[in-house]
Order: sequence, then C-alpha cells, then structure tokens
Amino acid sequence: SNSLEQTLISSIRNIPDYPKPGVMFRDITTLLGDARAFRRAIDELVHPYAGSKIDKIAGIEARGFILGGAMAHQMSAGFVPIRKKGKLPHETVRIAYSLEYGLDEMEMHKDAVAPGEKVILVDDLIATGGTAEAAVKLLRQIGADIVAACFVIDLPDLGGRKKLEALGVDVRTLVAFDGH
Ligand code: PRP
Ligand code: MG
Repeated sequence: SNSLEQTLISSIRNIPDYPKPGVMFRDITTLLGDARAFRRAIDELVHPYAGSKIDKIAGIEARGFILGGAMAHQMSAGFVPIRKKGKLPHETVRIAYSLEYGLDEMEMHKDAVAPGEKVILVDDLIATGGTAEAAVKLLRQIGADIVAACFVIDLPDLGGRKKLEALGVDVRTLVAFDGH
C-alpha cells in the first residue's frame, strides 16, 4: 500500500555525496533500527509466498543477511549465505562479478541448496544488478529453482531489475528511488 511505501521511505536515511560526490546513499540502518518499519518490510517481503513451500532464503553478504535471516525465520525456511570470497569453510562454487571499481568474487557452499529446491534470493538494494546477477548464476549452477529475487530498494535508473528479468527471474522491490 501507499502508506507502507511512505513508512519505508521515511525510515530510510539519505546521505548526500556518500561514498563519493554526486551519489545519494540510501542508508537502511535507520529502517532496521525502527521496529515497526523493519517488521513491515519483512512482512511485505514474505507476504506473496504465504502458503507456498519455499525451501531456502539465500541472502547476499552483508545487508542481505539481515533481511534474509528474518525472512527465513518467518517462513520456516532455511537460510543460505552468499559470501564474499574466502569466508566459507567447505567446498564452494565461486563467481566473479563487477563492482564500480574492478572485480570481486562471491561464493556459496556447493551443498547449500539441493537440486530443485525452491529459493528466494534477497538483498537490501538492487542498483546495476551485477551483484544479484552473479548470485542468480551461482544458485542456478547448483540446481536451485529461483522463485523470486527480492529487494527493499530499487534504483531503476541503474537497470538492475531489467538485467535480472532478462535471466527469467521474477523481481520484487518495495520502494524505488530515482537517480543514483
Ligand atoms: C551494495 C548493496 C547490494 C549491491 C548492489 O552492496 O548492498 O548488495 O551493492 O549493487 P549492484 O546492483 O550495482 O550490484 P556492497 O557491495 O556495497 O556490499 P555490502 O552489502 O557488503 O555493504
Ligand atoms: Mg550488499
């Protein structure tokens, strides 16, 4: 609803010129610290899947862990961390992805999802979609059935949603901000 969107938008803090001039940083720490806004965001993220069997929530390090843990608990699903390279102790699948400056790599345990399991991917924000696209590829590599990718914030001008939709992923976002 519109009032939900207003609640969420007003709980997100806007930091101009961070991390560099011309960028408006959308800070969700204020949303997370607001009990009502946090609960409403999680409720809204899980709502479409009430009554459907979701096996796992996959959260992208770092902010996707906070949302994904809460979603998994509420849905009685398992939680799978998708991490920056070098953090996971067991056998992993790994993929390179591009950031604003250069490349990074993310990893997931090979046995984190069984083939055919239904998975929802979550992160706090989708911008260029490079991070989420890499996560989709890792999940599919081990046979996950990606039901949807969910984000609290969409920056539609950066094209991430379209990038994921081109991969056949159903994308859901709660609020959108114009510009960067
Ligand atoms: C931010 C954000 C998303 C990603 C979106 O994470 O939390 O994960 O960027 O950008 P993209 O759509 O252009 O790929 P960041 O890489 O800053 O790391 P963090 O979550 O660990 O702070
Ligand atoms: Mg992130």
